[in-house]
Amino acid sequence: MSKIYLTTAIPYVNGAPHIGHAMDYLIADTYARYQKEKGNEVRFQAGTDEHGNKNYKKAENLGIPIQQFADDNSAKFQNFIKKLDVEYTDFIRTTDKDHERRCQEIWKKLGNHIYRDTYEGWYCEGCERFITQKEYDEKNGVCPDHNKPYEKIKEENYYLRISNFKDKIAQAIESGEMKILPEFRAKEVLSLLKDSPDVSISRPAEHLPWGIPVPGDDSQVMYVWVDALANYITVLGYPEQDISEYWPATVQFVGKDILRFHAIIWPAILLACGLSLPKTICSHGFVLSNGQKMSKSIGNVVDPIEVLDSKGLPAFRYYFLRHADSFADSDFTWDKYNAAYNNELANDLGNLVQRLANLCKKQDLPGRKYQPKRDADYEAIMDSFYFSKAFDYVWEKVQSLNRAIDDKKPWELAKDPERHDELLLILGELSDELLQVSYLLKPFLPNTAAAISKVFTSDKILPPDTPLFPKEYKK
Ligand code: MSP
Repeated sequence: MSKIYLTTAIPYVNGAPHIGHAMDYLIADTYARYQKEKGNEVRFQAGTDEHGNKNYKKAENLGIPIQQFADDNSAKFQNFIKKLDVEYTDFIRTTDKDHERRCQEIWKKLGNHIYRDTYEGWYCEGCERFITQKEYDEKNGVCPDHNKPYEKIKEENYYLRISNFKDKIAQAIESGEMKILPEFRAKEVLSLLKDSPDVSISRPAEHLPWGIPVPGDDSQVMYVWVDALANYITVLGYPEQDISEYWPATVQFVGKDILRFHAIIWPAILLACGLSLPKTICSHGFVLSNGQKMSKSIGNVVDPIEVLDSKGLPAFRYYFLRHADSFADSDFTWDKYNAAYNNELANDLGNLVQRLANLCKKQDLPGRKYQPKRDADYEAIMDSFYFSKAFDYVWEKVQSLNRAIDDKKPWELAKDPERHDELLLILGELSDELLQVSYLLKPFLPNTAAAISKVFTSDKILPPDTPLFPKEYKK
């Protein structure tokens, strides 16, 4: 048995969860369930990122006290994760007192890798990121993600000497000690790293009233990314507790937009603290809405709760785990969602369960005593973190089972008493194959897998009273 530690990005609390936020959780949950199925022990962190100007100014604009605003939105994220049936073990808020205190201890450990200097340059509040002149010029002074001009700031900051760690980080990426996925992103990170200046890791308290004070200097608060990244180890009790059971993390799941922080600043902090680097950083693409980035001004923001409530959790997990490629951008539209539900969940899987269980019922068959088998091909894909591809692999089995029923025509055999034994053998084999499919489906659709398993292992095989995925007809 191994101990597995996996982490998810902690969202800002400047609003309620949107559909894109589901990606980190669903992917991480699938991996967690897969590992538990293999008998491993999993620690799974989630949380919310509550400091920084982005959150602070939003609360101010809404006229809500910041702590209350953070409490309300953090609770929305926690509810959202629960609704997705995500089996996390720890939920951390960066305003937790333990986190704040531990962050200050971590700061002290950065020691002489820190120096003070004046920063004069560009900043994007949407990204909470310092922008180099080169990038400013390339982007014509406007953040493409937030559609806002970069602001010019001049302030006293503490800097972390990234230069002290560049070689080690590059070596770790190149040797695979810290694997960056997908692979083409590793190349991007290496080139960013080469050009990376030392990074500013604090802001003057007068510019950022909502942050963790720098120890020994009340005029400065920590840059929100330092505070946020540290959550992955403060949640384990670092520095006062020994975290070697779970650190280095097996895998850290993040969106592609924040990979740079995780692959450059975060490793530098870890190395400065004398800690190992995570084994894998896995970055997923974006969920678009009707082919475009979700934005309030375009009016294409999708409310995840509406999607979730429309067809239930298995349909939601199915769509975002199979049709959202684990590494590339993907698109959500209601038409695609409805089609995936009717053509795949209802027709391919729901119907398969119904018709096979009906054929078994007609023969009065008892439930099967099937022991699921590990599948090396499936595991190889799951181990490469390419979950959408692993889900395709399972779905091919669903489709091939449908074809097998069509080919073998058990209903024809049922008409011929001399072929009764053959019929029972075929129904038994098909049921066992479906139980095997349900075993492979478990990490993705736990409730559906359990329902299928119940149908084919109960005393008698009986179809569910209502199909697992009743077909929806346009009203
Ligand atoms: N607070 C930082 C993360 C700190 S981690 C130490 C942040 N928050 S966020 O709310 O903007 O994003 C949280 C996660 O959601 C990130 O992994 C981000 O990439 C992901 N996504 C945000 N919008 C997304 C989509 N439209 N699609 C898929 N994932 C997206 O960044």
